[in-house]
Amino acid sequence: MRYRGRVRSCHGAHFIEVGVEGRVRLVMESALTARDRVGVQDFVLLENYTSEAAFIENLQRRFRENLIYTYIGSVLVSVNPYKDLEIYSRQHMERYRGVSFYEISPHIYAVSGNTYRAMRTERKDQCILISGESGAGKTETSKKILLYYAFTCPAHDCMASLGDRLLQSTPVLEAFGNAKTLRNDNSSRFGKYMDVHFDFRGVPVGGHILNYLLEKSRVVHQNHGERNFHIFYQLLGGGEDELLKRLGLERSPQKYRYLVKGNCSRVSSINDNNSWKAVRKALPVLGFTEEEVQELLNIVASVLHLGNTQFGEGDEGETHITTEAQIKSLTELLGVDDSALRQALTHKKLIANGEEMISPLNFEQAGSARDALAKAIYGRTFTWLVEKINQSLTDNDEVYSSKCSSFIGLLDIYGFEVLQHNSFEQFCINYCNEKLQQLFIELTLRCEQEEYETEGIAWETVQYFDNKIICDLIEEKHKGIISILDEECLRPGEACDISFLEKLEDSLGGHAHFLTHKLANGKTRRIMNREDFRLLHYAGEVNYNVSGFLEKNNDLLYRSLKEVMCQSNNQMLSQFFCREEVIDQKRPEMAATQFKNSLTKLMDILMSKEPSYVRCIKPNDAKQPGRFEEVLVRHQVKYLGLMENLRVRRAGFAYRRRFEAFLQRYKPLCSDTWPNWHGKLSEGVSTLVQHLGYKPEEYKLGRSKIFIRFPKTLFATEDALEAKKPVIVLTLQTAWRGYRERAKYHRIRRAVIVIQSAWRGMKARRRARKRRQAAELIRRFVKGFIFRHQEYCLENDYFLDHVRCSFLKNLRKDLPKTVLDKSWLTPPPSLTEASEHLRRMHMQNMVRKYCRSIMPEWRKQLEQKVVASEIFKGQKDNYPHSVAKLFLGTRLESEQINLNVVQTLGSDKVQYGSVVTKYDRRGFKARPRQLLLTASSAVLVDRTKIKQRIDYAALRGISVSQLSDGIFVLHVHNEDNKQKGDVVLHSDHVFEVITKVAIMADTTNHVNISQGSIRFAVARGKEGIIDFTRGSELKVAKGKRGHLLVTVPQLNT
Ligand SMILES: Nc1ncnc2c1ncn2[C@@H]1O[C@H](COP(=O)(O)OP(=O)(O)O)[C@@H](O)[C@H]1O
Ligand SMILES: [Mg+2]
Repeated sequence: MRYRGRVRSCHGAHFIEVGVEGRVRLVMESALTARDRVGVQDFVLLENYTSEAAFIENLQRRFRENLIYTYIGSVLVSVNPYKDLEIYSRQHMERYRGVSFYEISPHIYAVSGNTYRAMRTERKDQCILISGESGAGKTETSKKILLYYAFTCPAHDCMASLGDRLLQSTPVLEAFGNAKTLRNDNSSRFGKYMDVHFDFRGVPVGGHILNYLLEKSRVVHQNHGERNFHIFYQLLGGGEDELLKRLGLERSPQKYRYLVKGNCSRVSSINDNNSWKAVRKALPVLGFTEEEVQELLNIVASVLHLGNTQFGEGDEGETHITTEAQIKSLTELLGVDDSALRQALTHKKLIANGEEMISPLNFEQAGSARDALAKAIYGRTFTWLVEKINQSLTDNDEVYSSKCSSFIGLLDIYGFEVLQHNSFEQFCINYCNEKLQQLFIELTLRCEQEEYETEGIAWETVQYFDNKIICDLIEEKHKGIISILDEECLRPGEACDISFLEKLEDSLGGHAHFLTHKLANGKTRRIMNREDFRLLHYAGEVNYNVSGFLEKNNDLLYRSLKEVMCQSNNQMLSQFFCREEVIDQKRPEMAATQFKNSLTKLMDILMSKEPSYVRCIKPNDAKQPGRFEEVLVRHQVKYLGLMENLRVRRAGFAYRRRFEAFLQRYKPLCSDTWPNWHGKLSEGVSTLVQHLGYKPEEYKLGRSKIFIRFPKTLFATEDALEAKKPVIVLTLQTAWRGYRERAKYHRIRRAVIVIQSAWRGMKARRRARKRRQAAELIRRFVKGFIFRHQEYCLENDYFLDHVRCSFLKNLRKDLPKTVLDKSWLTPPPSLTEASEHLRRMHMQNMVRKYCRSIMPEWRKQLEQKVVASEIFKGQKDNYPHSVAKLFLGTRLESEQINLNVVQTLGSDKVQYGSVVTKYDRRGFKARPRQLLLTASSAVLVDRTKIKQRIDYAALRGISVSQLSDGIFVLHVHNEDNKQKGDVVLHSDHVFEVITKVAIMADTTNHVNISQGSIRFAVARGKEGIIDFTRGSELKVAKGKRGHLLVTVPQLNT
């Protein structure tokens, strides 16, 4: 979508409609509604299309609205606005790019774009012929076209500068080939045909320029109010002081004879300084080296010096040069020999009968020889310049100059010229315009009619003026004006312009388009000069003054001057003036014949291409904006043949295409013709147009072409195609994407399969290996199991290792956590010993850990318990019951012990106390006592009194029964008289008491656990016995035979 929203065109907003999809379309039809104000944008839509007045009115209406462009079918009519309209911006270029011709308001860009598209799609070379009077805007138009291509065509990297070079060639060519004339301040004084070369992708890749007939006479003479070529003024005005000094020039143009003839060195619309800068900038871009630029400027300067070279006449009529300074500059600038130049400027060399003769020139001859040299130098420089530019524009790349490339030619050639005084140049120019008109007629009018005929389509004949008769008048061999002119130039004897005129009268008198003073009737005679001949051109009558015709046609440059130039050491000059030319005896072709031949070539070039036309009109002679001089415009409309053109357009069909082209383009619009039509082409087209609903009056089918009468029919079809395009694109896209995605899918699938198979193979191999290993393992295991009882050997090593290993592993998990946990895994036979070691080590370790962790009090407790265990374990019945009961530090608090007792004991501090029952040795009466243990003795206390004190040293041993009673006997040494004998005691905490005593008294080894009765000593050698018997409850009583009988209850375990 090119445009979004409503676009305001500078051409008037009413011209642009924004379609549903944002597309600009159908401008032409909508323009009809606004035609009262701005006219129609295609003269074909003019109601009164045969009226010249209506035509001009429409042109004027549009001109008033700054709408300078109007179509006649495909011909663009352009009126010079003489002011800058803002319609040439990049946005405008974009707007006209890719939009079909009739869709948007007329513009030079539309023609350019259309031509470009036609070249691309139809692969046919194109040309755009720009014609019109001098000053009508041809050159501007051609520049706009170039600009359009430079900006809108796709660019190739290495060709990026081509557009630049194309554009830069303009200021250089204009500097050397354009001049200010009365009609145009920047009038092209040469014809220019430029080919732009596009490669198969539509990228501009090269260019080529053909130049025609430079108006050389301007170098030496200008009419009043006109100037010489711009370059002279640019050099003098813009050249640096140093440069001018080197060239021996002064800044003022007034100093140069060649620049003062027109008396108009300053022009307000021209800025010579800026142009000079532009030229200097452009030359290197175009590939000119600095040396070449300098040599070029030398030549330009030498022309000015030549102009100032003056002659004097000696006494004997001999001519000599009077301006020495000029000659000096000239010899330097031209790089020629001083005396040779002097000689050549004042003498001529003749060859008569094969012999060289030198004869002096008279004053006048010397002047014209000098002027001829100036013209020759300038003319050849210009030709060289064009060649040089062509080299720079030539596309050297083989790849791009392949067969698929195409051309667009631009012809900007002098328009029809009618001046006050018309000379040889105007004759040539107007002849050229006759030829172009003929081409136009040939290509549009006649071809159109002929085509209708060959296509078998009924046609109402359009009357048009065929100017072939005038062309023949000028160019016909032997009979034409040019032939007569050449003959007159070559004729031996005194030929002059007047004799030429007479010859013309003789040969052409009576021709309908030829007239002279002599041949004219009285009325015409009055306005004709005697030296004039009149041609009735297709565009109007022109009187040509014959004076100078012969000389200009001869374009004579004396041999001697050519020879001098050949010897120049200025590289450029020696290229223009080559030796062969001097040696060659054959006369070169005359100027008019040369021009005729080049025109014939040009016509051939143009014929081979598809032409588009731009007809330029200038609205006034004053170069003023907004002024529309009807008379002037009518004249141009007439000689441009626009009315005839329009008549033909309206009578005929707006559009025609060969069946294949039409079908090819529009076949997607009908299901019968899409994608391919296999029947006859005409039937295909017929099917297609019927499907499109064309009405019979809208089209005709010829033999090989379809003709569509109204543009709107075509627009509708184009629009339908545009609308259809997305669908076609979508189909193509779908197919292509499908293909691409399928290919991609297959590629991925193949890759996936490869990866999968590799991965699966690897996995399977891994699994197989594992299984093999497992089977091997099982086999070894089973074998090992069978051989398990044998010595460690190859068969059972794995099994045994495994058993060991798993035992150790299991053991690690199942180790006893506490010292008391005596569980331990059963080891395999081979590890019995190791297991035992481990068990011990583990136990030790646990014990060590345990021991490290216990508190001092608890340690004491345990030490005591250990002692108790050593003494009683497995010996006394109720010992196991006692284990869990803790031993106390003491069972008597200090306040429970009588003070007297404490005092009596003095420093021997009580360390343990407990309540016991003492049994008398005789009678066994039970008495409550306190048993106190000090550091040195065990003391029995009866409330306040110490009853007995047993030094530990005196303690012989301790006896207890093996039963679960609390009776114990402290045995003392009998020898100690202080003692009353052994002591029989009972304690509820018998283990604690005995353990304490045994520790304190260090008698652990002397604790006797008696199996039966306990004997104890009574004083004076007597002895008591304690018997123990099992009963239902504890009873201590005197038994038979005076024994103490202790009944001990059975412990229920
Ligand atoms: N499209 C245009 N817009 C503005 N001015 C223009 C346009 N065309 C021509 N002119 C003016 O007219 C003058 C003459 O145009 P030019 O192209 O040199 O004429 P031609 O080549 O036909 O002799 C230009 O210098 C310019 O001032
Ligand atoms: Mg021009």
